[in-house]
Amino acid sequence: MRQNEAMELDALVERASTEIAAATDLESLAEVERSFVGKKGELVGLKKTLGQLEPEERKAAGQALNEAMSSVAAVVVDRRAVLATAAEAEQLASERLDLTEVIEEVKRGHLHLVTQARDRLEDVFVGMGFTVAEGPEVESAWYNFEALNIPEWHPARGSFDTIFVDLGEPETTMLRSHTSPVQVRTMENQEPPIYIVAPGRTFRTDTADATHLPAFNQIEGLVIDKGIGLGDLAGTIESFVGAFFGHEVKTRLRPSYFPFTEPSAEFDISTPSGDWLELGGCGVVQPKVLENCGIDPEIWQGFAFGFGIDRLAVMRYQLDDIRELVNNDVRFLRQF
Ligand code: DAH
Repeated sequence: MRQNEAMELDALVERASTEIAAATDLESLAEVERSFVGKKGELVGLKKTLGQLEPEERKAAGQALNEAMSSVAAVVVDRRAVLATAAEAEQLASERLDLTEVIEEVKRGHLHLVTQARDRLEDVFVGMGFTVAEGPEVESAWYNFEALNIPEWHPARGSFDTIFVDLGEPETTMLRSHTSPVQVRTMENQEPPIYIVAPGRTFRTDTADATHLPAFNQIEGLVIDKGIGLGDLAGTIESFVGAFFGHEVKTRLRPSYFPFTEPSAEFDISTPSGDWLELGGCGVVQPKVLENCGIDPEIWQGFAFGFGIDRLAVMRYQLDDIRELVNNDVRFLRQF
């Protein structure tokens, strides 16, 4: 290899080293690498000229060229390591999360609208001196119907659209179709005076539509004491509606029929537009029901009422469709 060629090669390696050192990121380094040792790189270009040399010159020149290429490659490797470490550090810094950061609004879950309504109802009635009672969701015909003065032949039985459970004799075990069986259970187990409300889930074969759900919630009220009459019932409903909806909301009773009360009524509440909305049923407890539960109707009298909690929520918040309550769309639920 001639002297000037060797010097040229040294200069080339030095230029390569300078350019490699000047590359500030992995991409520009790759470009520099390509321009010297890539397929069309300067050093590879020199390799192609070896063929024009004399055989003895060719060997030395080839060796010098190989050394030059590997020294450039080594410099690239070192520089790449430095740049890769820097790039990683930069990425880590940019992705860093400050876990002590205070987020302005904490989005927590909250109780479901129906649970809120149920809790408020309980609060209102507890404030009026009632206690909260419970009963099972699977009932026998005795509690769901018979003790409530709805014998098997009674037409009212058909109106309950009962969901039966496959247990024992056909149609003897069922999902309770109202919370009224809790009246019976309470009277069987508790000496009067009795002042209870019983909220809970109830079930009917209804198809879900804008105003019906097959699984819904009711709240039952029962008062047994001496000298209790229709006036006490009307006053209780008025106080509860005032406390729950606000005292501008009025109530009225309309004559109706239930086998377990006599007289029976449906109670309505007034709306701002002047209409009346039906909320539930109520009445003076049938003496027969008291007897069925071992309470002497000559001494004790009482009243009872029952209404849907889901419907109450629908009225209070003017929902278009009761099914919203069970769709589990958080965008809807978050509003309440
Ligand atoms: N259990 C009745 C129903 O589900 C509602 C009802 C009416 C309850 C009158 C009562 C009552 O306690 O006295 O349709």
